[in-house]
Amino acid sequence: MTTNVRKEVAVITGTNSNLGLNIAYRLIESLDSSKRLTIVVTSRTLPRVREVIGLLKKHVIKLNKPLGTVDYDYLLVDFTNMVSVLGAWYELNKNYKAINYFFVNAAQGVYDGIDWVGAVKEVCTNPIDAVTFPSYKIQRVGVKSKDDMGLVFQANVFGPFYLLRKLLSQLEAGKARVVWVSSIMAEPKYFSPKDMQLLESNSSYEGSKRLVDLLHVATYQELKKRGIHQYVVQPGIFTSHSFYKYLNIFTYYGMLLLFYLARLLGSKWHNIDGYKAANAPVYVATLANPRFDTQNVKFGSATSFDGMEFIEKTPLDPTGSSDVHHYIEKKCEEWDVKLKDQISNTRVPI
Ligand SMILES: NC(=O)c1ccc[n+]([C@@H]2O[C@H](COP(=O)([O-])OP(=O)(O)OC[C@H]3O[C@@H](n4cnc5c(N)ncnc54)[C@H](OP(=O)(O)O)[C@@H]3O)[C@@H](O)[C@H]2O)c1
Repeated sequence: MTTNVRKEVAVITGTNSNLGLNIAYRLIESLDSSKRLTIVVTSRTLPRVREVIGLLKKHVIKLNKPLGTVDYDYLLVDFTNMVSVLGAWYELNKNYKAINYFFVNAAQGVYDGIDWVGAVKEVCTNPIDAVTFPSYKIQRVGVKSKDDMGLVFQANVFGPFYLLRKLLSQLEAGKARVVWVSSIMAEPKYFSPKDMQLLESNSSYEGSKRLVDLLHVATYQELKKRGIHQYVVQPGIFTSHSFYKYLNIFTYYGMLLLFYLARLLGSKWHNIDGYKAANAPVYVATLANPRFDTQNVKFGSATSFDGMEFIEKTPLDPTGSSDVHHYIEKKCEEWDVKLKDQISNTRVPI
């Protein structure tokens, strides 16, 4: 029997997504007998939490891990609702003194379908680019949350940043690895400092990932001083549940065929499988050594033409990172004031 078992806590936002679930699988696989891991599954809805915990339990059985190696907890949070974000902090703060891993994986776009004419043109002129940097996904412009912020900005950047900022003491106590999931689409051209909340952009999803990169660049060194190691990763391209609704059986298999073709023709980013896509997020969380592995790059999940997975680093363009950080910190301070009376002790005896 193992004594001195070290208890660890991992929060994975959007655990029910293809990537989120595979991050959890790989994290469980990385466990040795000296550790006992609590996975905090997050979703906006309870049925999805139940579904994910069921899948994780099956995975633990499949791996033959001893009983009690993995514990499960859950958190309902909607990052487009600051009261919900504060509630998430309240729950985590109440339940955990230390958090060891925090994966910012949940994300959303404001998609409105596919420009099929544009898609066919892109596929015919450059099939690899068409399935690597697609520009035919139509995104609505100017969509705001009920909190009156850019919806995609709040969901993918501000909401998670605010939660992490409030959890600093737990992250410090757990010498945490914080992993932000970005994208290969996070190019500087998708973000303008004049439109911090991405309200004028027709590429708000890509812009939000650029903001993630810039926030990481602006904050990882300060966090390191507190013993928190933050990384930014990109999972390449893989099948996503959220886009199924725009595809039928023919377009779905057509897309898969193009993905495999792209990989055969040399695209290293076509991981296709969520498990391979989760390679970089779990690598930086469990294997990267902050003393030698620079944090000033984006760690990517890559796959060779014959399906072998590997990690590939790409440089991060830091232009504008301090302005972004300054803007978001100011917004956090505004929300600290707006939310200050939200949580009160209602159990005081009368
Ligand atoms: N698919 C790709 O090829 C690709 C490429 C590059 C980067 N990525 C990134 O990889 C990550 C996972 O992608 P995926 O395709 O696996 O995810 P997905 O299927 O699109 O699922 C999105 C996840 O985010 C959660 N979520 C969405 N909006 C939320 C909100 N407002 N508040 C809280 N949670 C919210 C959802 O949780 P519930 O619905 O359960 O609430 C769901 O688990 C994302 O960060 C994505 O940007 C994906």
